[in-house]
Amino acid sequence: MAERAGVKHAVAVANGTAALHAACWAAGLGPGDEAITTPLTFVATANAVVYQGARPVFAHIDGATLNVSPDAVKRVATARTRALLAVDFAGLPCEYDRLLPLARARLDRHRRRRAFVRRRLRRSAGRRPGQYDDSFLPSREADHEGEGGAVLTDRDDLAERLRAMRHHGIRYSDRGRPWRYEIPEPGNNYRLTDFQSALGLSQLAKLDRFWQRRDRLARRYRERLGGSPFVELPALTEGARHGWHLFVVMLRLERLAADRDLVLQALRAEHIGVTVHYPLVYRHPFYAGRFGYGAGLCAAAEAVEGRLVTLPLFPAITDADQDDVLCALDKVFAHYGR
Ligand SMILES: Cc1ncc(COP(=O)(O)O)c(C=O)c1O
Repeated sequence: MAERAGVKHAVAVANGTAALHAACWAAGLGPGDEAITTPLTFVATANAVVYQGARPVFAHIDGATLNVSPDAVKRVATARTRALLAVDFAGLPCEYDRLLPLARARLDRHRRRRAFVRRRLRRSAGRRPGQYDDSFLPSREADHEGEGGAVLTDRDDLAERLRAMRHHGIRYSDRGRPWRYEIPEPGNNYRLTDFQSALGLSQLAKLDRFWQRRDRLARRYRERLGGSPFVELPALTEGARHGWHLFVVMLRLERLAADRDLVLQALRAEHIGVTVHYPLVYRHPFYAGRFGYGAGLCAAAEAVEGRLVTLPLFPAITDADQDDVLCALDKVFAHYGR
C-alpha cells in the first residue's frame, strides 16, 4: 500500500475506524482540541475524534463535488484546531492542493507557539504537545469481504508509534528477549489478522483491474444519467482520478412527485440495492446532544442530504446488471416524474 501511495509507511490495522482513531491518537488529539471534518461522511470519521476526547467541527461542503470546501475549513479553524480529517467523498479526491497549505500554515503557527510556550514554561506539567503529519490517509482496502484499514505516513517516528499502538503500545527493549517489553503509552488491539492480510494482499494485486471495472461502470452510469431531468450528478475534478468507491446521484426532487425515501423504496421493490451515503454526522442524536449541533449548521450539506441516492457499483456487477438498475430507474422516474 505504501508503495502504491508513494509514501514511506503504511501501518495496517484492523479496519478503517481503527485507522482513523490511530491517526487521531498519533496526531496527539486530546480534550480541548478541535478537529475539522465534513458532515457528509460516515460517522466513524467524527467518532475517531470523540474517542480522543476532542471536538469535531463540521465545515461546509462544496455543493457540486460534495467534498469539504477549503474556504469553509479556513473559516471554522480556530486556535484550538489540531487536525483536519478530509474525506474523499465517494472516492473523489479533495482539493489537497488547497487543504495541505492550510494545514501546514496552521502547523507552523502551532510550532512557533509551542516553542514560545516551551521557553516560558520549561517544566510545564500535563500532556505533551501532539505530533502532526500531513499525510494521514485512512484507507479503505480493495474489494474483499473482510475488514482492514491503514494509516499512511512519511514520518518514521509516527509509523513507529502507530505500530506499537496497534499492539497495546508494546515496545520491545531487547529483541532477543521478547518476553521483556514495556508500555511507554497505552495502545490498543488494532492488529490486522493474518487472514485479512493475505486476502488484502491478493486483492491489492487486483486493484487496477477492479478500479478499471469501477471506472467503466461509472462512465456508463454517467453517460446514461447525465442528461436525465430527474438526477444531478456530482461534479468531477479536472485531472483528479476518482476512486469510484461509491456512485452517488442527487435526485431533482422538484421534478418528482415523491421524496427520496419513496424513490429508494420503489427501487428496492425492483430488487435494486440502493442506499444513502451518508446521513449528516452532526444530526445524529449523540452529536446534537454532546456538542449542541443542530439544523442549519451546514446549509449546503443539508440541501443535498435528502436528495442523495447511492446506486450499486462494484466490480462484480455485469453490464446487464447495470442495465437492470438503469431500467428500474427509468420505471420509477416514469411513475413519479412530473
Ligand atoms: C468514509 C468512511 N470512513 C470510515 C469508515 C469506517 O471504515 P470501517 O468500516 O473499515 O471501520 C467508513 C465505512 O463505511 C466510511 O465510509
